[in-house]
Amino acid sequence: MEFNPADNIQDLQYFGEFGGVNPSISDSSTYTFLAAKSMMDTFEGNLEGCYLYSRHSSPSNLYLGQALAAMEGTEAANVSASGMGAISSVLLQLCSQGDHIVSSRTIYGGTYAFLKNFTPKFGIETSFVDITDLEKVKASITKRTKILYCESVSNPLLEIADIKALSKIAKAHKLTLVVDNTFSPLQISPAVLGADIVIHSLTKFINGTSDTVGGVICASNDFIDSLRNVNDGASMLLGPVMDSLRSASVLKNLRTLHIRMKKHSENALYLAQRFEQDGYKVMYPGLKSHPQHELYKSLYNHEYGFGGLLTLDAGSLEKADDLMELMQERNLGYLAVSLGFYKTLFNAPGTATSSEIPVEEQKEMGLTDGLIRFSIGLDNHIERTYKEMRNCMESLGIITLAKT
Ligand SMILES: Cc1ncc(COP(=O)(O)O)c(C=O)c1O
Repeated sequence: MEFNPADNIQDLQYFGEFGGVNPSISDSSTYTFLAAKSMMDTFEGNLEGCYLYSRHSSPSNLYLGQALAAMEGTEAANVSASGMGAISSVLLQLCSQGDHIVSSRTIYGGTYAFLKNFTPKFGIETSFVDITDLEKVKASITKRTKILYCESVSNPLLEIADIKALSKIAKAHKLTLVVDNTFSPLQISPAVLGADIVIHSLTKFINGTSDTVGGVICASNDFIDSLRNVNDGASMLLGPVMDSLRSASVLKNLRTLHIRMKKHSENALYLAQRFEQDGYKVMYPGLKSHPQHELYKSLYNHEYGFGGLLTLDAGSLEKADDLMELMQERNLGYLAVSLGFYKTLFNAPGTATSSEIPVEEQKEMGLTDGLIRFSIGLDNHIERTYKEMRNCMESLGIITLAKT
């Protein structure tokens, strides 16, 4: 049967402590043991079903982890306090001093900064490559390489990683393929396509209400157990734990993800097509002009579409800034970082979410000053939104610049 992530979420059944339709929220940081020996066995990882301390695991976090593992088709998952909490724990769990990582060069600015500026302090080096160039990826692998790292749909350039091909390369060189799937939940299922570990920033589409940060690591039972190990587990020892109240609310939001993603995708496709017809420089995986449109189609779970993110080049940073300010004034969305909200969010990533990437490198990867990243909202009447956005662009003279 075809893998369907939303069906897997739907098929989970919960009975709360008092028969509630939602699992009861665990409101404790620590848990009692009736027998002292059980505590010792739990510490040693030999006792299932007992809780020890909420930095290690808690019933609410396990429920959310179970649902996200079902969504990604992995054996297990561990939720964390933020996407960066998930990313840093995975990388530090897998790498030791002297190890090497091959990473896509177009990744979230925080991940880039972590690999470029932070992990070298521990003797872990990273080569940043054009992930769409598989020969370059292969050529960057050394004897010390441990991880192949990418985003399924990259932030902010919306490049698509050929996860099937990258998985073959990873297997041939005994590397762990780690994929950040934040931009494409439900649309792309990296583990089904061959990734070993799938990460999300739950802060974005999955939670969808821009009221918390959160993250998750979806992987095998063995890897998730290793992260929680009391002696050497990165999640246990670095401590980026999600609070139970939050994980309970993220779980409730997760249940409407499929409906939201379809609407985000429908609205983004509509705007991308209209702006392209108007002559703007738009990047969206659902457009035939996207260099990897066909690749995306070979990877995606089609009913969830091409995602909620698109980019539009306003021509210069000044124009981009003017446009974003005007769109906010006209209540078309918010000039804000992040994504996956019910309202459209926009920012110029070169000076915001990707500002950690040096300007020369931004240029090399095609991140221009005037590029605006849009996370398209759940607008009920998208044609109305389109017309108002067009008005904003025309009143700032952006149409002529984009056409040149
Ligand atoms: C693709 C991607 N991965 C990871 C992160 C980091 O997630 P968080 O902000 O939840 O730590 C972000 C945040 O913007 C992101 O866009």
